[in-house]
Amino acid sequence: QLIPVILCGGSGTRLWPRSRAVKPKPFLPLVNDHTLFEATLRRCPRDKGFAAPVVVTGASHLEFVEAQLGQQNEAKIIVEPVGRNTAAAIALAALRLPEDAIMLVCPSDHHIGDPQAFAQAACNAAELAQEGWLVSFGIEATSPETGFGYLKRGAPINEHGFRTEQFIEKPDLDRAKAFLAEGIYAWNGGIFAFRVSDFLRELCAHRPNLLEQVREAVARGWEEGHSFHPDASAFAEVESESVDYAVMENTQRAAMVPADMAWSDIGNWQALHAARERDQAGNSVRGNVELVDCRNVLADSDGPRISVIGLSDVYIVVDGNDVMITTAAGTQQVGKLTGAVNQ
Ligand code: GDD
Ligand code: MG
Repeated sequence: QLIPVILCGGSGTRLWPRSRAVKPKPFLPLVNDHTLFEATLRRCPRDKGFAAPVVVTGASHLEFVEAQLGQQNEAKIIVEPVGRNTAAAIALAALRLPEDAIMLVCPSDHHIGDPQAFAQAACNAAELAQEGWLVSFGIEATSPETGFGYLKRGAPINEHGFRTEQFIEKPDLDRAKAFLAEGIYAWNGGIFAFRVSDFLRELCAHRPNLLEQVREAVARGWEEGHSFHPDASAFAEVESESVDYAVMENTQRAAMVPADMAWSDIGNWQALHAARERDQAGNSVRGNVELVDCRNVLADSDGPRISVIGLSDVYIVVDGNDVMITTAAGTQQVGKLTGAVNQ
């Protein structure tokens, strides 16, 4: 059985003013009526062979997680006293699961437009994980993004999977461009499948201290109902590093399954606009909005009426007392706005 391990970490600033520290991205209904976290749960249903999920989240997000778990009352929650990035978050889950379990690590800040393709890829990835591979989901790279990991496709392992000849986390722009031109690199979708024992062995081989520190925090942790609380002072000592740098770049057992599933990391308002349903003029609107002669406009209000005439390719978001207006190019820089920085 595949055990979904759902990661809910940082808040992100690039979808300000809607996403804020007090109501972070995974818990907002951004693309449709479900929040990204709810959609992540729904992609791994019990009746399709997934086990009850393990959610790893920060203490500050616990309230949202509990409210949005809904029917998933068998879910287990691991509550991080502080964020120590994904290597530690995944290690926490691994240390609480049986050694032979297969974990499916799912970030909760993505959108997947084709859940059926996701389910198929998860199945293929689980098969490889059973054989001892540490499997990434490969997304077709379409631009030289520097915020993603890149997977160099190696020899085929079976009909669905390949060795990952090299895993390069967040290359600089020149390297990203070169990878794109070569055509045999995919983006790492941030979704992983591996057997608990394989993950722990590789983490021990490449970051023994990190693993020991997490072990200590788990050994001294305590349980309360469905949640587990690692010891705060021990966990505070854990190195903060992502699983991509700590394990995936270093392991000799990396594999990939290509997954064509309309994936988007919803990294900014432009990406969100692309993932949303749009009308014939390419507009996506939410809330009280009137558009006249507009094309390719995103207008999203949680209250006040937005009225726009004759604009194209603009992004307008109203949240409480904040109004944010920008162009497509500007959506990359929203995180630098004073409002986003000081949210
Ligand atoms: N519980 C927990 N604790 N979750 C965390 C923590 C943490 O300390 N830090 C991050 N996460 C969660 C985030 O909420 C997100 O769902 C996921 O782990 C990935 O973390 P990001 O911080 O968003 O990583 P990234 O976007 O820079 O890079 C990763 O994702 C890319 C795809 O979006 C990497 O895996 C890249 O290789 C990949 O291309
Ligand atoms: Mg991310």
